[in-house]
Amino acid sequence: MSQAQPLINKLVVVGLGLIGGSLAAGLKRRGGCVETIGVVRTAEAGAQALKRGVVDRTCASLAEVAPELGPGDVVFISVPTLAVAGVLEQIRDCLGPQVTVTDGASVKGSVAKAAEQVFGLVPPQLILGHPIAGSERSGVAAANPDLYEQHRVILTPLENTDPVHLDRVVQMWQRVGAEVLNLSVEEHDEVLGATSHLPHAIAYSLVDTLAQDIGNPNIFRYAAGGFRDFTRIASSDPLMWHDIMRANKDSVLSALDLFMNNLSRLRTAVAEEDSDHLLGVFTRAKAARDHFTNILAKRAFVDSMSRSKIDYLLQPGGQVRGTIRVPGDKSISHRSIMLGAIAEGITTVEGFLEGEDALATLQAFRDMGVVIEGPDNGRVKIHGVGLHGLKAPTKPLYVGNSGTTIRLLAGLLAGQAFDTEMSGDESLATRPMGRVADPLRSMGAVIDTAEGGRPPLRIKGGQRLKAIDYALPMASAQVKSCVLLAGLYAEGTTRVTEPAPTRDHTERMLAGFGYPVKRSGATAELTGNGRLTACNIDVPADISSATFYMVAACIAPGSDLTLTHVGINPTRIGVINILRLMGADLTLSNEREIGGEPVADIRVRYAPLKGIRIPEEQVPLAIDEFPALFIAAACAEGETVLTGAEELRVKESDRIQAMADGLQTLGVNAQPTPDGIVIQGGPMGGGEVETHFDHRIAMSFSIAALRASAPIRVKDATHVATSFPTFVELAKQTGISLEVIDS
Ligand code: S3P
Repeated sequence: MSQAQPLINKLVVVGLGLIGGSLAAGLKRRGGCVETIGVVRTAEAGAQALKRGVVDRTCASLAEVAPELGPGDVVFISVPTLAVAGVLEQIRDCLGPQVTVTDGASVKGSVAKAAEQVFGLVPPQLILGHPIAGSERSGVAAANPDLYEQHRVILTPLENTDPVHLDRVVQMWQRVGAEVLNLSVEEHDEVLGATSHLPHAIAYSLVDTLAQDIGNPNIFRYAAGGFRDFTRIASSDPLMWHDIMRANKDSVLSALDLFMNNLSRLRTAVAEEDSDHLLGVFTRAKAARDHFTNILAKRAFVDSMSRSKIDYLLQPGGQVRGTIRVPGDKSISHRSIMLGAIAEGITTVEGFLEGEDALATLQAFRDMGVVIEGPDNGRVKIHGVGLHGLKAPTKPLYVGNSGTTIRLLAGLLAGQAFDTEMSGDESLATRPMGRVADPLRSMGAVIDTAEGGRPPLRIKGGQRLKAIDYALPMASAQVKSCVLLAGLYAEGTTRVTEPAPTRDHTERMLAGFGYPVKRSGATAELTGNGRLTACNIDVPADISSATFYMVAACIAPGSDLTLTHVGINPTRIGVINILRLMGADLTLSNEREIGGEPVADIRVRYAPLKGIRIPEEQVPLAIDEFPALFIAAACAEGETVLTGAEELRVKESDRIQAMADGLQTLGVNAQPTPDGIVIQGGPMGGGEVETHFDHRIAMSFSIAALRASAPIRVKDATHVATSFPTFVELAKQTGISLEVIDS
């Protein structure tokens, strides 16, 4: 496997344990250096290292090999943390400044301090580093040339660090397969103190407690997987961890204090049988472990470290057949959490969409102290806290990619007693929030936005809201819902009038929670300060997700697909109306009403489509479905014209431009207009299309492949997980040839 040029002439490893031995062996295996030399304390250790082929030769001290070292050579110090100072003294006495020196100690502040004591300042040749790849195993016998593959190495360069030495160390780690990150010394020690040093302290203490202090000699005989998983790290090298606890004393102490405080609160909850506290801690922790590491770290979608970027590769042709159920409705899932949280009693939800947008809403309410069990196979249990029971979150709420979360929550948070801040990912940061901030301000809310009315939103609590009569300037269910939710906290009767019907899930669901909402013509109204009573919610399958498969069946000859349990709320069925106008063969059966929302099974069989002029009154009823409908138009005979749809320009991407660009790439004549698009149906080729990180653009071009004459590569399809986590699985199941590839 040796590759390319050696990066390093001689690599000298001081301390041939797991970390040092693995680096030497890894570089050797990959041709990363000309020669590897181990400095060992005992002849046995040297013999073992040579026998295992970890290094080319060994010596007893650094001084012995120092005269041979010069530019292009690297000394790697991997001795226990508190022993690093002694090695630095030897370096001062025998090495010149041309030799690169780096270390692998788990604490960086103590090494920096030792270097200052030895050299007067941390010398420019010394790169402080920490490979995060240890395990409970230690010693040269555990050395593994592949240990660093796909692991992270943190470097903590200082202002005076020499860039040539730094670059050599970065390349060294990359050569053994690691990803290199930079942190400050202080941040490194704080983060590692909490995520690594604290768990080791707890694991050692727990095992010691069981072994020493619990009188039953059989205690380990009955210990099962939980004990094994939790305490694996108590088998780590005691001397190494002794050093780490002392070297990172301050950070370890603050992490221990925080933890002991929380543990003692948990003790009280056990003693007092405080179910709410127990369930609160356990459900939040489970969520953090299962799903939310990215959201909590505010890096969903943007950080390639936390999430690999993926593309879809689609082979042309094929047909879709079978019976499928797409995941739960996104709009209804969001609202089930919001209303369940401010209701009195326990609300149960079935069919909840476990996509990232709805999960962001769920996490926001957990952050405001609401106990939420699940989601577990679409089942969620929300322990409602009542209209005035939300608690101030300890940090800004992070809502990822979700416009619905930020806009609806803005209304609800405007009425709280506490301040909040909401932010999201790069796409959300560009989306207009003035449309919700303006009416909320006229109700008396105090809201700050970033420049141009964009997120983050800062909402000041403790304001007395008053009801307003609001005529929506655009047909937007998000704005309507935002004002109605603020109306729950306002004095008087809030009225919202819409220019065209938009989805009415908020109104229907409020009624389901026993909160009176009056509808007269285009106006919905409610009076503030009532109460919501918990209920059971059955979320229908999302017609917006079903759309991709409906269009797939419409355009691919030979298709016959049934979608079950699809929500067919009259404010959402624009897609059915438009496809039928285009000549599609759609049959609805088993129509029924579930929890205030109509649902049906929809069977779609292939039929040739024709281009149409899309009636403007259908636009708000199909607002999320246009990307897929544009694919239908491209496969239809003749011209399709869309007007009155300027809202599409401010969705997760500018969907008019993104779709026009992608269609043109595939050879389709698609001309964007300020408020719509004109598409000439015709043959479609293949190519590479950009999604602009928009889930619906990604899924639309995936189904387009059914009628393309060559493969389509859909770039950056990661965001499909925001609304349709099972899209790939269902594509494969129905007959679409889709391969997920790392980009
Ligand atoms: C939604 C309303 C629509 C839609 C969005 C969800 C909702 O936005 O595009 O995906 O749940 O209220 P607008 O109301 O802003 O058009």
